[in-house]
Amino acid sequence: MTAFRVAMNFVHPSLDTATPNALEVALTDDVLVVHGGTPLEGRIRVRGAKNLVSKAMVAALLGDTPSRLFDVPRIRDVEVVRGLLGLHGVKVSDGDEEGELVFDPTNVESASTDQINVHAGSSRIPILFCGPLLHRLGHAFIPDLGGCHIGPRPIDFHLQALREFGATVEKTPEGLHLSAPNGLHGTKFSLPYPSVGATEQVLLTAVMAEGVTELRNAAVEPEIIDLICVLQKMGAIIKVHTDRVIEIQGVKKLHGYTHRPIPDRIEAASWAAAALATRGHVEVLGAQQADMMTFLNIFRSVGGEYEVTDLRPPRGGSAGQEGGIRFWHPGGELNAVALETDVHPGFMTDWQQPLVVALTQARGLSIVHETVYEQRLGYTEALNTMGANIQVYRDCLGGTPCRFGRRNFKHSAVIAGPSKLHAADLVIPDLRAGFSHLIAALAAEGTSRVYGVDLINRGYEDFEAKLADLGAHVERP
Ligand code: EPU
Repeated sequence: MTAFRVAMNFVHPSLDTATPNALEVALTDDVLVVHGGTPLEGRIRVRGAKNLVSKAMVAALLGDTPSRLFDVPRIRDVEVVRGLLGLHGVKVSDGDEEGELVFDPTNVESASTDQINVHAGSSRIPILFCGPLLHRLGHAFIPDLGGCHIGPRPIDFHLQALREFGATVEKTPEGLHLSAPNGLHGTKFSLPYPSVGATEQVLLTAVMAEGVTELRNAAVEPEIIDLICVLQKMGAIIKVHTDRVIEIQGVKKLHGYTHRPIPDRIEAASWAAAALATRGHVEVLGAQQADMMTFLNIFRSVGGEYEVTDLRPPRGGSAGQEGGIRFWHPGGELNAVALETDVHPGFMTDWQQPLVVALTQARGLSIVHETVYEQRLGYTEALNTMGANIQVYRDCLGGTPCRFGRRNFKHSAVIAGPSKLHAADLVIPDLRAGFSHLIAALAAEGTSRVYGVDLINRGYEDFEAKLADLGAHVERP
């Protein structure tokens, strides 16, 4: 318990400290001891992207025949969606191949609010069940959402879009009740910001709505394009125009799909950043250059080196042996850089936290302007307790138009380096920040205790086994 008290001194403000007893128990059981200072060396593999796989699973609800999804990682979000599908009568079973799931939606049925509420607070994916459940059942109940504590994360765009399609939405203390008494009808809708989730909401609803839907200012992340591929395989008619316009012609019926998802580019970049921060050398099998170009440019500017070892054609062609991307620290000093997070094709907000750890080792002043989420730099406090020198600012330190500039959010960071990192006791605040804490502990001299590591299982499959494969000295006490 003393260790817990020490750890609580490093708690990120977004962590809910209102229930210290539950938290104490959870955290004291859930700690990784990290003996830092050893470069990560070796090869690991990433599987299907967390932020596509979970949505493709929801899409299976729309078909009238079974779907097969390959390369599904064993992560918490997948378990939550699997549970929710099961509650709604979708039979989910393991396929022949490791990581293959089969979804049989022939007997979709209603679930009780109590049953659904078991998943309250566990993930953000349940909000995407709205359209498919309205199509299949005429009503939907959505529990309170979970996901990372990285700002307010409203769902106003989702609800506005659903109302445009003709859904009625009732907010109650137990969750959202939706119905579509007159069916769902195509609409013209423009997103105030190219939200990934709201774009997916529109896609999953419009594909079977009556008539044509035109979505403007849509997100066009590779995971969205891959979801469009899944829906097209199911029989949907979707046109992606230039300038973020997506047009969907509603169809009456969709069938199952067979799909191998794009690999997880966030996980790939996280291991790349870990290689750089620990002065190591990691080959990430499965990583795809085409989806990581912006990351690779910054990685090279910082002074990291990489080689693309995947010689297959982009998008999973089958010729040749599976490769990926090999990332390494070439020795010597790293360079400071300025970067701004942005929607695709910009630098992903989820790449920011792991890379910042490497930037603490670069000579000079690096600048990070976070333009996607208003509160995604809180984790830098923990890095400062380890010896980093990071100041956060309310000002926009960059030229990308940003919604947070004059609204009092500390969303820009200046990182002065290089700093020698030393061990500390840390509490993981959210998924990506959590991975950055882990990298910092691996790069630091001495022994750190990282509390709440279980959160990392939400998005990084088998991360402890992968750490072991890369020669990290970590143990459960
Ligand atoms: N926003 C609104 N209203 C809405 C929806 C979004 O104001 O109704 C705002 C958000 O508050 C945020 C911005 O729009 O400031 C972008 O949010 P977006 O909807 O794009 O994010 P999301 O769909 O909730 C997904 C990923 C995130 C990733 C973002 C951005 C999943 C499950 N999550 O979230 O991934 O950071 O897109 O690329 O796909 C993660 O994997 O750890 C993670 C947080």
